[in-house]
Amino acid sequence: MIKLVKAPTLGLHGQITVPGDKSISHRAVMFGAIAEGKTIIDNFLMSDDVMHTIGVFRSLGVEITYTDTQAVVVGKGLENFNQPSEALNMGNSGTSTRLLMGLLSKQPFDLNIFGDESLSKRPLKRVTDPLSLMQAKFKLSDEEFLPAIIQANNTLTGITYRMPVASAQVKSAILLAGIQADGETTVIEELPSRDHTERMLRQFGGQIQAKNGVITVKKQPQLKGQHVLVPSDISSAAFFMVAGLITPNSNITINKVGINPTRDGVIKLLERMGADIVQNKISSEGEPLADIKIRAQDLQGITITGADIPSAVDELPILALAATQAVGDTVISGAEELRVKETDRIATVISELTKLGANIEEKPDGMIIHGGTPLHAINGSALLDSHGDHRIGMMNVVASLIADGDVVLTGEDAMSVSYPGFVEDIAKIMKQETL
Ligand code: S3P
Repeated sequence: MIKLVKAPTLGLHGQITVPGDKSISHRAVMFGAIAEGKTIIDNFLMSDDVMHTIGVFRSLGVEITYTDTQAVVVGKGLENFNQPSEALNMGNSGTSTRLLMGLLSKQPFDLNIFGDESLSKRPLKRVTDPLSLMQAKFKLSDEEFLPAIIQANNTLTGITYRMPVASAQVKSAILLAGIQADGETTVIEELPSRDHTERMLRQFGGQIQAKNGVITVKKQPQLKGQHVLVPSDISSAAFFMVAGLITPNSNITINKVGINPTRDGVIKLLERMGADIVQNKISSEGEPLADIKIRAQDLQGITITGADIPSAVDELPILALAATQAVGDTVISGAEELRVKETDRIATVISELTKLGANIEEKPDGMIIHGGTPLHAINGSALLDSHGDHRIGMMNVVASLIADGDVVLTGEDAMSVSYPGFVEDIAKIMKQETL
């Protein structure tokens, strides 16, 4: 349990560099492992989730070393993995589980996989349904959940698949099976989900066509190891954006944030709320980057609908907090995917923010946040809980920056899933001089 503190009246100031992108770090390890030769990954995210992806490939015999922010993977190709002696532990990581169910669906041995309590409740049929159409074979607990077996298999066949939900994990699982399948594999997306798999396949020398939501891959020639620079994670930066906007007198800069257009919904939505966010673009060969400048500002409530969700799906908890401080109501709909994240994030956002006096109505597919509520620990003290969900833990830390009263947080360990050192980084911008 940790005590959370209100920000100083002078606000939050200075520069912050958040850790590397989680989605891209996972994928860099995966592509590095199936490539030939060495892959060097800079600004690598050394977090609990990514460590589980590393653990899986080490069990498959891939040599991976790392220092604080760099990882080196010595690729083995897709056909030379060792049979692991134990079941593979996915921890809390939905991305490891779903992407690897595609990537490892054509191995000559069974792979037993399991995860923590939260991951064991998250739906997997969304990946096993299309992968089974490709002739991959799985055994799931209760036909839906971990623990599961990715069964030995020597054939994959291409399919054309129209995505029933916008999900980069499902799309990526299909594409990662598609690069090993006979024939063409096409995924059709109604709304664009994050495209890091597509970009990284190209960077590793692979071939992929992607246009107007139609993405096609075929069996690839041997991929080659690369030097990957991971941008700082916009999903982590979002907590600082909102902290800077809602904490009076703040003025902060977040350095070298990845602003891939399939991920920057949080910036667009905050701008729709009236925020003036300065993005100083930085030239880069890989994913687009910018330094982001934020100062405290008044916000207005907005309407967020299904089309807004995929590019901001992980940022909705922190956007909900911003909405509690906006003038008027913010209505979020079409966000039922929040119910199957690390927690049911509609329920956990409401459970936590109402402990601080927020006024939020629950909807099956979203919420209505009545803005303009000064946050304070009801009855003078509040016991907040991360519910084992990193993003709920970080939302609570940011909420406490503007909350009166005694606020404590339990389950703070969850934050290391994507951002080890988050509380320390928040403390840094509390101490820096006014610019
Ligand atoms: C991710 C995709 C998203 C996101 C998750 C990471 C990825 O999940 O919520 O944190 O790296 O592909 P869905 O594909 O379930 O939307």
